[in-house]
Amino acid sequence: MDRFRIIGGRSLRGRVTISGAKNSALPCMAAALLTSESVTLHNVPYVRDIITQRRLLEDLGAHVLTPELRTHKIACAHIELFEAPYDLVKTMRASVLVLGPLLARFGKAKVSLPGGCAIGTRPIDLHLEALQRLGAQVNLEAGYVVARVPQRGRLQGAEVNFDKVTVTGTENLLMAATLAEGRTVINNAAREPEIIDLCELLNRMGARVRGAGTPTITIDGVEALGAAEHTIIPDRIETGTFLTAAAITGGELEIKDCRPEHSAIVIAKLREVGVEIEEINQSTLHVRCCADDLCARDVVTEPHPRFPTDMQAQYMALMTQTRGTARITETIFENRFMHASELQRMGARIRIEGHMAVVEGPTPLMGARVQASDLRASASLVLAGLVAAGETIIERVYHIDRGYEKIEAKLRAVGAEIERVRDSVTANLPPPAEVGALQTEA
Ligand code: UD1
Repeated sequence: MDRFRIIGGRSLRGRVTISGAKNSALPCMAAALLTSESVTLHNVPYVRDIITQRRLLEDLGAHVLTPELRTHKIACAHIELFEAPYDLVKTMRASVLVLGPLLARFGKAKVSLPGGCAIGTRPIDLHLEALQRLGAQVNLEAGYVVARVPQRGRLQGAEVNFDKVTVTGTENLLMAATLAEGRTVINNAAREPEIIDLCELLNRMGARVRGAGTPTITIDGVEALGAAEHTIIPDRIETGTFLTAAAITGGELEIKDCRPEHSAIVIAKLREVGVEIEEINQSTLHVRCCADDLCARDVVTEPHPRFPTDMQAQYMALMTQTRGTARITETIFENRFMHASELQRMGARIRIEGHMAVVEGPTPLMGARVQASDLRASASLVLAGLVAAGETIIERVYHIDRGYEKIEAKLRAVGAEIERVRDSVTANLPPPAEVGALQTEA
C-alpha cells in the first residue's frame, strides 16, 4: 500500500486550486438514477470515492462517459440491477445514496447495511424510517435492506421529522420525494452546502424542491425528471485543510476556486486562533500566518452551519502548535479521535476525556511512522508531518485518496517536501478500493 514520506519544517507559499466537493458529487451522481435522460456533472473531483460511485452506477446498468477528467455524463436509461452490494457499501458508506432514487423510480432497491466503520457505528435507521413514512416497505434480509413500494405504485409524500440531523439521510429522502405523489416536508433537515447543491441539480432536472439550506425542505413530487447539466461546488473541507496547512507551517497561500461563505465558521475559528485570512473575492482566499502568534481555542463539532466534524482532526493537529489548552468536543461521531494517538506518537500532548480531546500546546512535533485510520485523520497526520522535525511516514494513504485530489502534488507545488512511496509488493495490484479491503467512513 502507498505511503507518504514527508520532511517537515517548510512554510507553504503559493497558490492552491480547490477541487469539487466529493460529498456533493456523490449524491449528485446518485440523483442521475432518478431519470432515463442524461445528467452531466462538471467539476467532479478525481478521487477514489467517485471512482467507486461510478463503478456502482455502472454495475446497476448506468452508462457513464467522461469527456473530460472532471466531467461525468451519466445515463440511467437501462437500469438492470437494483442493488448496492456489501463489497461496495463497506468500502464507501455513501453508496447507500442509491436507495432513495432506485426506490422512487423503480419501486424497489436492495442495499447492504453499512455495518461498523472506523469512526463509529453509523446506522442508517433514520434513512429507513423516513422512506417508510413515504410508504416504502422495508425488510432486513441477510444483512441487506430490501425496500419496495407496495403494488408497484408511487411513494406518497408525507411529513418527516428527523430526530437527528443526517446529511445522507436528508439526501436519500429528498431524492426519493422528488418522484413521490404529493408533498413531502422534511423537518430538521441537514443544511450543508452539499444539500443545497443537490437540490439545485434536482430542480434543474425538473424537481420542485424549496427550502434547501434551511431546516425545513418542501418537495412537491413530479411524475418524471429529465436531463440536466450542473457544476459541483468547491470542496469546503479541502479548503479548510489548506487554510490549516498554511496556518500550521506559518505560511502564506492564495486559495483559488473555493467558496468562502461555505467555510465561514472555519475561517472565523482560525481567525480567533490568530490566522490572518482575507476574502479576496467570492472564490479566492488569502491566508497568512506567523506561527509563533497562534493561541489555542476550544471547538465543538456540530451540524452545519456550525464547526464541521470533517475538520476536527485537522484542527487538532493545528492545536498542537498553539499556545495554551484547547478542548475539542466531538458531538457527531462517537469514535472520531483515532488520529489523537498517532499525533501523540509524534510528540503531541493530547488527553481524551470521553467526547472531548484536550490538547496542550505548543509542542514540537517529531517525525515518526504513523498510520492513517480514516480520511480526515489522514489529513491531520499530513498537517502534523509538515511541521514535524525530520521524516514522517504515513501508512495507508488510500484513506486520503478517497477524498483529496492529488494532495501531495498540491502540497509539493507550494513548497512542501512530500512524496508518495509506492509499495513494491502491491504496486501492481488493483487499488485497495477495488479489492474491497477497506473500512467504511465519511
Ligand atoms: C456525511 C458526510 C461526512 C460527514 C457527516 C457529518 C457524506 C458522503 N458524508 O456523512 O463526511 O462527516 O455527514 O457531517 O456526505 N445517524 C443515525 N442514523 C442514521 C443516520 C445517521 O444515528 O440513519 C447518526 C450518525 O451515526 C452520526 C449522525 O447521525 O452520529 C450524523 O451522521 P450523518 O449526517 O448521517 O453522516 P453521513 O451522512 O453518513
